[in-house]
Amino acid sequence: MITITINDREIRLEKQVTVLEAARKAGIKIPTFCYHEQLEPYGGCRLCLVEVERMPKLQTACTLLVTDGMVVRTESETISNVRRGILEFLLINHPLDCPYCDKAGECDLQDLVKQYGAHSGRYTERKRKVPTSFEDPILARNMERCILCTRCVRMCDGVQGASAIAVVGRGGHSRIEPFSGGRYNCEYCGNCLTVCPVGAILNRLYLHSYRPWQIDREVETICPYCGVGCSFKIQIRDNAIKRVVPQIGLGINDGLLCSKGYFGYEFISAPERLRAPLIRKNGGLEPATWDEALSLVARRLKEIKGEYGGNAIGGIASTRCTNEENYIFQKFMRVVIGSNHIDSAARLGFAGAQRYIEDILGQGVTANTIRGVKNSDVILVIGGDPTAINPILGLQIRASFRTGGKVIVIGYAKGLKRFSSLEIRPPVYMESDIIERLLCDLFATKGLSGEKPIIEERIQGIAESYKGIKGIGDRGAILAEEIERAKELLEKGQAISIIIGKDIVQRTDGSRSLFAIAALSYLLDARLYLTSERPNDQGVMDMGCLPDMLPGYRPISIGDFRRRFESQWNAPIPEKEGLTLMEIFEAASSGSMKTLYVMGENPAFNLPDSSFIERALSSLDFLVVQDIFLTETAKMADVVLPALGWSEKDGTFTNLERRIQRVRKAVTGTGMEDWRIISEVSKKMGYRIDYSSSEEIMEEISRVSPLYRGIQSEEIDKGDLLWPYKGEPLRGEVRELPVGVESRKERLRKDGVIYLIVDTPLFHSGTMSRRSPALRKICPDAVLKANPMLLKRLDISQGDIVKVTSDRSSIVVKVGIEPDIPEDVVALSNNFEGVEAYRLFGYILDSITKAPGIEGCEVFIERVSHK
Ligand code: SF4
Ligand code: SF4
Ligand code: SF4
Ligand code: FES
Repeated sequence: MITITINDREIRLEKQVTVLEAARKAGIKIPTFCYHEQLEPYGGCRLCLVEVERMPKLQTACTLLVTDGMVVRTESETISNVRRGILEFLLINHPLDCPYCDKAGECDLQDLVKQYGAHSGRYTERKRKVPTSFEDPILARNMERCILCTRCVRMCDGVQGASAIAVVGRGGHSRIEPFSGGRYNCEYCGNCLTVCPVGAILNRLYLHSYRPWQIDREVETICPYCGVGCSFKIQIRDNAIKRVVPQIGLGINDGLLCSKGYFGYEFISAPERLRAPLIRKNGGLEPATWDEALSLVARRLKEIKGEYGGNAIGGIASTRCTNEENYIFQKFMRVVIGSNHIDSAARLGFAGAQRYIEDILGQGVTANTIRGVKNSDVILVIGGDPTAINPILGLQIRASFRTGGKVIVIGYAKGLKRFSSLEIRPPVYMESDIIERLLCDLFATKGLSGEKPIIEERIQGIAESYKGIKGIGDRGAILAEEIERAKELLEKGQAISIIIGKDIVQRTDGSRSLFAIAALSYLLDARLYLTSERPNDQGVMDMGCLPDMLPGYRPISIGDFRRRFESQWNAPIPEKEGLTLMEIFEAASSGSMKTLYVMGENPAFNLPDSSFIERALSSLDFLVVQDIFLTETAKMADVVLPALGWSEKDGTFTNLERRIQRVRKAVTGTGMEDWRIISEVSKKMGYRIDYSSSEEIMEEISRVSPLYRGIQSEEIDKGDLLWPYKGEPLRGEVRELPVGVESRKERLRKDGVIYLIVDTPLFHSGTMSRRSPALRKICPDAVLKANPMLLKRLDISQGDIVKVTSDRSSIVVKVGIEPDIPEDVVALSNNFEGVEAYRLFGYILDSITKAPGIEGCEVFIERVSHK
């Protein structure tokens, strides 16, 4: 125990901290500029100077560590004089343009000058003049106002890891500049903007459009983009979101955000938002009243159910909708329609992977806290770049690396390139061989514990299949060395995390890789994380939007569980398991599925083999779509129902670590909550699904779902609610493991062929991001990324427009350079209209996860025009 005295108050501390931290803990304010909770101490601004007994000079409280018996004074005439001097000095160059500055009202410099004086300056020379830079579309720089605290640089370098900005120039000419020149061309996390204490970095999304004190209200909510579920506040004025305000201590992101969370909210007020229901008439979609549209949906669903049975109707739930909406959706499908054909886009990676891994290792094994990642001493990343898919999770990996953690990346490291101890780059489609090889080598040295014979038997089988095989692919010897190095690093690990991305799941043998990863975690006692592209991948599954599981993962095939839900819902539930996502479209294409009800999803854009999906959709007798935009799928619908979007409705999301968090209504939109639309349809069909609010739905969920049993609204409000919460164990451990692709098969690679892979960009996610002007300014178009050597071989230059053709379709797109991808591969994202990568892919379902395997997409590239 350390005892110190600050301003005559005795303070007892359990561990050694800085004087500033000790004072703050005791509620004593010491002014600061360069200090920030999330940054390394810098000691540059001197504003935090304090008097310490037996020390001759004033000391900086932000860097001085307390010692037992220390006596500190934070305010005195001497200290005030020094602070006044520092402020006067800063004001030599700082313009006095507070009436015009966006920061006024929440500016540290303004507040401190008010407190300490420096009311009139003695400096009579001309102030430094630097024109505000508007070269960047998102961030404006006013270097006249910069007080050179370097918080932005330390944030960008030491926390974000982007190292995109620096102090340039000397003395009075020092300023902050992006390395890339005028534009930032960085990760656009906005975290430098958050920490700037003055108006030197400005957000152009609301520049000069309002003052901080003019907001109508502030609402705390969750980001609508990915499965991390970052918290922030949104400020509202005149029923419009003016800005996103991250806050230290709030949520699992602790005040940090990524580009989508910070700048991606504008989609909610996009002019293309759907305003009224649409009904197909004479081949086109025409506006209709709610009553007309809902009555038509109810009548057609009834007719189709009457003629073909409930099994002729399928439902696609939404990983972007709330838990409450998804719960109502599956209840409607099961009890009103009488169909278990319910699935969602979580099936593309997250759903099947989670279910299979948890079958192998036990339920909850993929539920690990995001903040735990940075405490790992070894992190293995497989199947995609977490810094793009789940950027705040990615920051945790970077943080671990910075503090000595070893990061091993199998595949294309992208945002982890400067943060990886070992990057294993196998030839395309051969990651699973690397993982299995690693598993065999670790098994050979570590042996087996005998704890789970079913897993160990399979590990032995895999080891057997590799006997006598020396290298892997054409870079066998090099890869063997890298695998050996990875093995050594993993063997030394005490706290190992394995981060799994969708790319390894979307393979025809994805389940084989997943088994090997699960087995690795079994051997190494590692924590597993599944990256999650959508905000409610987890929740949509928890709510029972699965063809074989009721809410809380109760198997539909078990009569007891079915009966329990039947008695809660007062209606029978179909017994037979339904079809998974891609199987639903296969059934539509073959004619056995007559109708689809799509809530908040865009299969014609978001699923591989788009032309096949479009054909399947056009084979339907009736298609209903609820959405916020007239998406590619909605354009094909018979009825389109305008839904409310994120920030227009209340509810909850469950993030990838299974934290149930509240999304709150902040503005009033045009349309209905998805759950309310479904309730209205169901009432017209003769079954009362009737709720007054999302809270009432959550009350029912907490009654019927064993996962969410007993949770209280106030507990969700606190934001620290992780399931499994209360109640009985869920699924037991399986006694038999389903087997996918058994034998080690030759990869699909052929010499001289170019393969297409899907790129996951940092700035886009699809429907919402492409309608967010700021994100479009940062990244306006799709780019086909290719290795410079490949481009040279094809006589194509960066910026050229090319036609990319596969056996499914062709698209025309601009070419960009990416030196890190193999020479026989090109990468394209699936985010922009008309140039979506999925249009070029066919797929084969993995037999266990039912995720579409999309490897082996051969493409032909020809130039259409020079740049
Ligand atoms: S926005 Fe983020 S990446 Fe860009 S300069 Fe600021 S801190 Fe660095
Ligand atoms: S731009 Fe802001 S955060 Fe960066 S050094 Fe200047 S005042 Fe500090
Ligand atoms: S990491 Fe995910 S949840 Fe957090 S701000 Fe970015 S997109 Fe939103
Ligand atoms: S806050 Fe302590 S020196 Fe700047």
